[in-house]
Amino acid sequence: MKNLTVNLLLTIAYLLFITTTTAAETPWLENLCLGNENTTKLHFYVHDVRKGPNATLYNIANSSITATSPTGFGRINVFDDRVTVAPDIASEEVARAQGTTTSVDLQVSAASMNLNFFLKSGKFNRSTVTIVGRNQCSDEERELPVAGSNGAFRYARGYAITRSYSNDEATNYSVLEYTIYVTISKKCS
Ligand SMILES: *[C@@H]1O[C@H](CO)[C@@H](O)[C@H](O)[C@H]1NC(C)=O
Ligand SMILES: *[C@@H]1O[C@H](CO)[C@@H](O)[C@H](O)[C@H]1NC(C)=O
Ligand SMILES: *[C@@H]1O[C@H](CO)[C@@H](O)[C@H](O)[C@H]1NC(C)=O
Ligand SMILES: *[C@@H]1O[C@H](CO)[C@@H](O)[C@H](O)[C@H]1NC(C)=O
Ligand SMILES: *[C@@H]1O[C@H](CO)[C@@H](O)[C@H](O)[C@H]1NC(C)=O
Repeated sequence: MKNLTVNLLLTIAYLLFITTTTAAETPWLENLCLGNENTTKLHFYVHDVRKGPNATLYNIANSSITATSPTGFGRINVFDDRVTVAPDIASEEVARAQGTTTSVDLQVSAASMNLNFFLKSGKFNRSTVTIVGRNQCSDEERELPVAGSNGAFRYARGYAITRSYSNDEATNYSVLEYTIYVTISKKCS
């Protein structure tokens, strides 16, 4: 019984050690293990630079009513945005956010998303998390589905919570905060 307790304490100490060391190296990446499911929590900031020499978001097309629509209906944008650990654009880059958005609501400002997070750092380097769905930009907090993944997250499901962190209309620069829960059916060892 005593041995069992000691073993248990050692295991807990070891798990805490792993968790804290992993967290220190990649603070944007966290493992949430639950039974036969393995959820990875990703947290980072996406930089929409729409103007200037460092622009990463461009307008592809407009519909015949985009200019007169109060919601910019039919506008399509393409982006390859920097994704960083902190809100500061100069902080460490851990991924790129690549995809397109289409303005799809005649009444309110909402986009249909095709968003691929291409990870560039950490243990899941080069894996991709794909997010699709309706994004109602006027809501402070939006929930978007994880449609799938490749690499380490093959067969993944999950969801993302996103919110605007800052928006500077004058310079056409906004920062978006993303928290993504990616779950795969795999026992945590
Ligand atoms: C563009 O990026 C470079 C380096 O990343 C930076 O030095 C420069 O200030 C940026 N320019 C603008 C207009 O933000
Ligand atoms: C779409 O319309 C905006 C103004 O509403 C304009 O600035 C932009 O150049 C247009 N894009 C294309 C691809 O024509
Ligand atoms: C991620 O993978 C790329 C390509 O294989 C490699 O060049 C880069 O060093 C890797 N980055 C990290 C942080 O492991
Ligand atoms: C920022 O974008 C808006 C359209 O979204 C445009 O009207 C404005 O002129 C832009 N500002 C700059 C500095 O380019
Ligand atoms: C799943 O859980 C283990 C911890 O036991 C972790 O090391 C692994 O990287 C996790 N994530 C994935 C995507 O396999």
